Amino acid sequence: MRNIREDNLSDIVLERLNCDSERDREILTKLIKHIHAFVKDLEPTEDEWFKAIDFLTRTGQTCNDKRQEFILLSDVLGVSMLVDFINHRTQNNLTETTVTGPFHTAALNFEMGDNIARGKEEKRGKPTVVRGRIFGENDQLISNAVIDVWQSDDIGFYDIQDGDQPEMNLRGKFKTDKTGEYWFRTIKPAPYPVPTDGPVGELLKASGRQPMRPAHIHFWIKAEGYHQLITHLFVKGDEHLDSDAVFGVKESLILDFKLNHSSEDANQWRVKSPFYEVVYDFKLAKNKT
Ligand SMILES: [Fe+2]
Repeated sequence: MRNIREDNLSDIVLERLNCDSERDREILTKLIKHIHAFVKDLEPTEDEWFKAIDFLTRTGQTCNDKRQEFILLSDVLGVSMLVDFINHRTQNNLTETTVTGPFHTAALNFEMGDNIARGKEEKRGKPTVVRGRIFGENDQLISNAVIDVWQSDDIGFYDIQDGDQPEMNLRGKFKTDKTGEYWFRTIKPAPYPVPTDGPVGELLKASGRQPMRPAHIHFWIKAEGYHQLITHLFVKGDEHLDSDAVFGVKESLILDFKLNHSSEDANQWRVKSPFYEVVYDFKLAKNKT
């Protein structure tokens, strides 16, 4: 076919597909159809097209082992949450899921009850105890669940954004025993802006959007025989709960971080009084496969 014109180009591109995998064929067919429809609808100038190529190029170039600008782009466009909703439609009474976000990295293994606030920075935040149990969908307690947690510090920075924090600060992995219980010490997280010094920041600015996320702690829970669970626990009362830059807030994940003045409780949980306390039981879906 040499007689390629504006009105037959999309069909010709689709006809060239010769995928071995049916799913690959479906994905590429829909990608080509939607992107051609977008361009036909928009009719971009060549300058605009090169600007788009430059934007995506810089988005990739901004990624490294400590920064994931493409996840952030997916997050601020609402695509990450769309994928989340599509993949967790039959939640019933299970813990709701939300975005992974761009700040997950490798973490150290801790003993239950350890403090993930490391080094000097520990003195900077408000002591907080996070505790609860890990259940399966039929209310059975799950032993040997690995709980991977990560959060910002009390002024809204992750360790990987802030050279003043110790390495792997405010992130860690815990494993439940037979009781299915978990608990760890940390500091109360703060709201923070998603990084705005890269291409995604330009996009937010051009969109007239604010970059703040409400304060939260991330959880990634894995247990044999169960679907992994990626979610956050949000701090009730945060002023950004209704305007999260990545659309990740779900009502059931907003929790009271209660201030506890009891010195007896503080001794029990090995923290200074007063301290914040948040209690949450997770519930995971069983693996059907
Ligand atoms: Fe986060």
